[in-house]
Amino acid sequence: MANQLLKGKKGIIFGALDERSIAWKTALEAVAEGAEIVLTNAPIALRMGKINELAAQCNAQVIPADATSDADLDALMVKSMEILGGKVDFILHSIGMSPNVRKTIPYTESNHENFLKTLDISALSLHRVLQAAMKADAINEWGSVVALSYIAAQRTFPGYNDMADAKAVLESIARSFGYHYGFKKKVRVNTISQSPTVTTAGSGVSGFDVFYSYADKMSPLGNASAEDCAKYCIMFFSDYTRMVTMQNLFHDGGFSNTGVSAMIVEDLQKANG
Ligand SMILES: NC(=O)c1ccc[n+]([C@@H]2O[C@H](COP(=O)([O-])OP(=O)(O)OC[C@H]3O[C@@H](n4cnc5c(N)ncnc54)[C@H](O)[C@@H]3O)[C@@H](O)[C@H]2O)c1
Repeated sequence: MANQLLKGKKGIIFGALDERSIAWKTALEAVAEGAEIVLTNAPIALRMGKINELAAQCNAQVIPADATSDADLDALMVKSMEILGGKVDFILHSIGMSPNVRKTIPYTESNHENFLKTLDISALSLHRVLQAAMKADAINEWGSVVALSYIAAQRTFPGYNDMADAKAVLESIARSFGYHYGFKKKVRVNTISQSPTVTTAGSGVSGFDVFYSYADKMSPLGNASAEDCAKYCIMFFSDYTRMVTMQNLFHDGGFSNTGVSAMIVEDLQKANG
């Protein structure tokens, strides 16, 4: 049910790997709401993923960019403005990767080269994107930048490993850069803290299935799906959230404010006989 919430708006969407990706759903939703977009992902993801299928559905061009390369991001800003015929109104940062998680290295035995890569790819990339956008003056006034986070930034979820630290930095960058971009250009920067979601990045976290069902049983509304998250992102790109910036917004069916649920208590009672 599209309402043309993004009619006349242009945007850049990072991180659509396959049809399960939150960025994939957000791209489809943005176009359905009247936006014109360009899609971008790391060159390796473009080779392995299915982004061209999405590009065809969205009538969008794909620009390769590694989010840890300032040169790639500078070129991305310039090319996006060329393709879209002007500055953009929104950017989705939907990027995450931890070599420690991928290699199932426990947090207490982290390889620190890997740790630095986790931070660079999953957190500092937001700073790089914002810096490249500001340098190229690529975002219109009242534009909106959204990055995706997870509650492990505030509470410990051991399987989430060094991604927890990356998300804490990501949320802090949204506040710090949001301050500067707000005063300078009235651009807003927020993070959305999403429920566990079955995607390539999500399922890579050890014990994801248990993690997912625990969160589902803890959340009064259940886990928020990728489609729901896409819709929430659209609201943040729209003019209905013009005065919201430097925030971390929980999109988690109520998980973050629930101490324990009756379903979890029942499970424990059953387990204890
Ligand atoms: N899936 C979940 O449970 C969940 C929950 C909360 C937050 N998130 C966050 O949502 C975002 C999107 O993840 P997803 O779940 O859709 O998984 P996904 O695997 O579909 O998306 C992750 C994307 O990051 C991209 N990426 C990795 N390294 C990159 C680089 N160097 N440059 C540019 N792009 C790069 C990948 O190519 C991929 O497209 C991530 O920030 C993730 O941490 C996911």
